[in-house]
Amino acid sequence: MTPSHARLASHADFRRVARSRLPASIFDYFDGGAGDEITLHANEAAFAAVHLPQRVMVDVSTTTTASDLVGDPAAMPLALAPVGFGGLLCRRGEVQAARAADRAKVPFCLSANSICSIEETARVARRPWWFQLYMMRDRDVVADLLRRAWDSGSRTLVFTVDLATPGIRRRDIRNELFRGTTPAKLASYICHPRWLVDVGLRGMPHTFGNLAPYVEARSLAGFGGWLLRQFDAAVTWPDIAWLRGQWRGRLVIKGILDSRDAAMALDAGADAIVVSNHGGRQLDSVAPTAVALPAIARAVDGRAPLLVDGGVRSGHDVLKALLLGADGVLIGRAWAYAAAAGGEAAIVAMLARFQTELRTAMALAGLPNVDAIRAMRRPPFDSGVMACDKSSIDI
Ligand SMILES: Cc1cc2nc3c(=O)[nH]c(=O)nc-3n(C[C@H](O)[C@H](O)[C@H](O)COP(=O)(O)O)c2cc1C
Repeated sequence: MTPSHARLASHADFRRVARSRLPASIFDYFDGGAGDEITLHANEAAFAAVHLPQRVMVDVSTTTTASDLVGDPAAMPLALAPVGFGGLLCRRGEVQAARAADRAKVPFCLSANSICSIEETARVARRPWWFQLYMMRDRDVVADLLRRAWDSGSRTLVFTVDLATPGIRRRDIRNELFRGTTPAKLASYICHPRWLVDVGLRGMPHTFGNLAPYVEARSLAGFGGWLLRQFDAAVTWPDIAWLRGQWRGRLVIKGILDSRDAAMALDAGADAIVVSNHGGRQLDSVAPTAVALPAIARAVDGRAPLLVDGGVRSGHDVLKALLLGADGVLIGRAWAYAAAAGGEAAIVAMLARFQTELRTAMALAGLPNVDAIRAMRRPPFDSGVMACDKSSIDI
């Protein structure tokens, strides 16, 4: 940990540095949510409203955060969520994130919409890594991406289902994100010369490395247009059978917020589920994930591993998620801000912060390992949690 990262003690600290380092439209792309950003903020608020148990006189001298995450061993029950265009955060951002995840011994999930290709990322990965995909209209592209991920060593596919159509993200509209270089953007790039040279020019984000074999476009505007045309709004559960035929590894369905959909995902053959509202970037005003999680955990009832993301900002939030019924969490913006703040080293520092916080919270809650957390969940998990008008939630 370099001295500058050592002083970044919280999610807010990393976010502040990320904001200062990135051009405004790039920061807004990562930071923003859909609509009025109600769900974006509610995700964080819902975790903040959960009360942890304080238990004393328990032997916590050997507290460990070690866990199993969808079949992969991990130093803690956490993985880096797929974040599109991670190569805009720092030079070759996805590669730096994959290296950091390896060093912290947690899985990295590569978004199909990445600047670094599957092959470039796989070359640095020393541990199991996951690959995320949306259904695209061009099924040949989907099949080819799956083949490339498998040939490159990924054995866990995260298939995202909450993006039938992209959410309405007002910050991106105001910033004309997909309109090429505007005077306002140019001015903000020039005000961030370090980013401009190191990432914008040397990092070559305009090549859209992973999807380059399928796209003619060489500009953000052209690429954005292609991507928008590729999202397939006609996908339904039977399409999972086709996907299953293309993928021999584990299948994780990401983007579930309703118990009925969780049951259908299991029926369709999901090996695991991620409770997610896409970090508040899709349908604004849907429930925060910490509120939706307990009912889904009850519906799944241990039949498959259950992960959750959205608003996880600290090790305390990881413990809360586990107590609410999850087996692990994904973090999105937390690693994105760290990547912008200082690349691989800062992501390692951020993950060390999460692990220290989780270990400390577990010890002070009298829960020396993940099995003890699972045993402590008191069914029904949702006692009090679904009552959104409560100012706080006790587990
Ligand atoms: C800038 C950005 C890009 C994202 N891109 C993807 C993506 O390509 N695929 C995907 O499944 N989810 C994507 N997500 C959603 C994340 O995987 C995750 O669900 C979300 O960030 C969790 O919320 P959090 O940021 O509050 O941790 C993205 C999120 C952000 C913030």
